[in-house]
Amino acid sequence: MADGNIPVDLQDDSSEDLSTNPTSNITFQDVVKKQLSRRSVVKGSLAAAGATFLAPAAGYARGRDAFRRAPAAEPEALLGFTPLSIEAATAEQGRTVTISPDYEYQALIPWGTPIDPNSNIAEYTGDPNTRPTAAEQEQMIGIGHDGMWFYPMNLPSILMLEQRKGLELPGSLRSRILNSREGMICINHEFGRNSHVLGKSFPETLEDVRLSQAAHGVSVVAVAESGRFGPGEWNVVSNPNSRRITVNTEVDVSGPVAGSPLLGNSAGNVPAGTVNNCGSGATLWGTYLTCEENFNGYFGSTTGDTTGFNELQAAAYARYGFSENGFGYGWHLFDARFDIANPGFANESNRFGWCVEIDPFDATKKPVKRSALGRFKHEACAFTELADGRVAVFMGDDQRGDYCYKYESNQPWRDVIAAGLSPLDDGKLYVAKFGAGPEGEGTGEWIELTASNPDIAAAGLDTQDKVLVYARMAADVVGATKMDRPEWSTIGKDGEVYWTLTNNDRKDDGQGAISDVNPIFENSDGYIIKTTDTSATTFEWNMFLISRNTRPEDPGADASDVPYAEYTAPADGGENVFTDPDAAWADPFGRLFIGTDGGQPSGLQDQMVVIDTATGEYKRLLMGVASDEITGAAPTPNYKTLFTNTQHPGNGSPSSTNFPAPFDGVTIPRDCTIVIRHKGGGVVGS
Ligand code: FEO
Ligand code: CA
Ligand code: CA
Ligand code: CA
Repeated sequence: MADGNIPVDLQDDSSEDLSTNPTSNITFQDVVKKQLSRRSVVKGSLAAAGATFLAPAAGYARGRDAFRRAPAAEPEALLGFTPLSIEAATAEQGRTVTISPDYEYQALIPWGTPIDPNSNIAEYTGDPNTRPTAAEQEQMIGIGHDGMWFYPMNLPSILMLEQRKGLELPGSLRSRILNSREGMICINHEFGRNSHVLGKSFPETLEDVRLSQAAHGVSVVAVAESGRFGPGEWNVVSNPNSRRITVNTEVDVSGPVAGSPLLGNSAGNVPAGTVNNCGSGATLWGTYLTCEENFNGYFGSTTGDTTGFNELQAAAYARYGFSENGFGYGWHLFDARFDIANPGFANESNRFGWCVEIDPFDATKKPVKRSALGRFKHEACAFTELADGRVAVFMGDDQRGDYCYKYESNQPWRDVIAAGLSPLDDGKLYVAKFGAGPEGEGTGEWIELTASNPDIAAAGLDTQDKVLVYARMAADVVGATKMDRPEWSTIGKDGEVYWTLTNNDRKDDGQGAISDVNPIFENSDGYIIKTTDTSATTFEWNMFLISRNTRPEDPGADASDVPYAEYTAPADGGENVFTDPDAAWADPFGRLFIGTDGGQPSGLQDQMVVIDTATGEYKRLLMGVASDEITGAAPTPNYKTLFTNTQHPGNGSPSSTNFPAPFDGVTIPRDCTIVIRHKGGGVVGS
């Protein structure tokens, strides 16, 4: 949620703005700050400094990024494109998306697009006088486009072939034979305000609530590129596996929390739905993992009581940020599931806050909540294969002062999949504790969250289902490091993990804490860190990029700032300035694609920049429209097409932008996917 350029009202996702972490977890800043001296080594390009700091991590991670393996061919130039200039970007006044002159884009699947083009449902095109019905919306693309992935249409047959042969095709071959012109897009619909979705600030009927609910969730939709011989237009195509998944879709829960009394309701309702689907991750076995972030905001209390039905729940409601009115969606007034004061649904809220696995190619399979990955405000998840064939998943919990997590499967994922089980059901969950790093680099520990840890058990979390349902509280106990809002994580080409820490300028009222890895007190611009695991329980970290250092001018420091974070003017004079990094995708060529979310400097809107991780050089590829944010990044297997999104364009108001419609000041702007392509047919980013 953009928090730099919109007024904060009840109904937004700015619970991110309010820390609910009451702990006084140790900040190593307290320990080491006194000894710090200003070191010139990290002044200048921090990104470049970061690239050389870490020794290879003894092969702990193999660096597999999703299912893509090694690329077909290196792009001619890692960052060869002409950047979108500030002048060209701002000339459009935020009314339309702008892009590098070497690139072209197309809007695809805006909110209101029927997921089956052969259905008799008409597209909702942004008429301000009407909205879809709830029943129509259930068959349409939702709103709040965020995490996404493109699954080539022939992926299942390639995976099957590999499994049958017990081998893996070479990456270059895979990249060539996987279909880059037709596939299933899985895409999250994180949120849509009532004013945008309903055309009014508050629901008046259950039908209104059902419309709001149907606009949230996930779409699985088939798309194909037209034009037989060359680049064409992307369109939705009919496919039996295209479907909507909403908060009312039946789901399964697997892993240690399955069957736990913590998920039981006396109302007897079966587990259903997913909500506030923020970022995502592509598993190594061809499925999609959608992440439930600010789920608390959809619950409310009809009595005003927010203390739950037992002591543990009272503590958890506070820690997870439940409140009387939530984010103002009003669902709880018409749908008792979302009323935390209703004893019949006493544990309904425990059914949210998970990572949920979806099979893009099988609409008959229920989405599965993978409880072993813990319950918190999941931003996104990044998968990698470890040297011994097990899978690791890196996950941020996006709130001021919350934590970075990791999951590792206990067994090699191929063996588990071959046995018909899930590698996400049997493994260990860890939380990160960052050690001191006075020069913007250091080591850290992954601390396992387990009921067999006496400190965790002593806090009332004495069984593993409790530890996982209340993962934040278990992490509090072991002294995890408070971070400046961990958003996306993504795996770099050598297995390193990049984490976007979007911003946090509220440390003065206790929402988070300053530390070497969170070095700026009034951190309104954010930063990107890099971690590299050296074992299951240890890692190295370094500050990869401080957004403040992309600014043309010194924004001013605070006396509490860690010395190494002192402003350093950028080499480009601020032409490619960006702040508030959020969405992140590392490609296999050593580049990092970043989507921003926050008020951008120099008259810019939120944007996508590309960073060369070896040199630290960065360029602006694309800019969104007024009041939107740029979310998600998903390539085709040949890397020549990239899908990203504009989320909440104009914040739903038609006065500043009507995107994807041309500017008319009237048409309701609609969240949509942006398809990006190099005019010369090159790999995106080159
Ligand atoms: Fe949904 Fe933290 O962004
Ligand atoms: Ca954000
Ligand atoms: Ca968002
Ligand atoms: Ca985000």
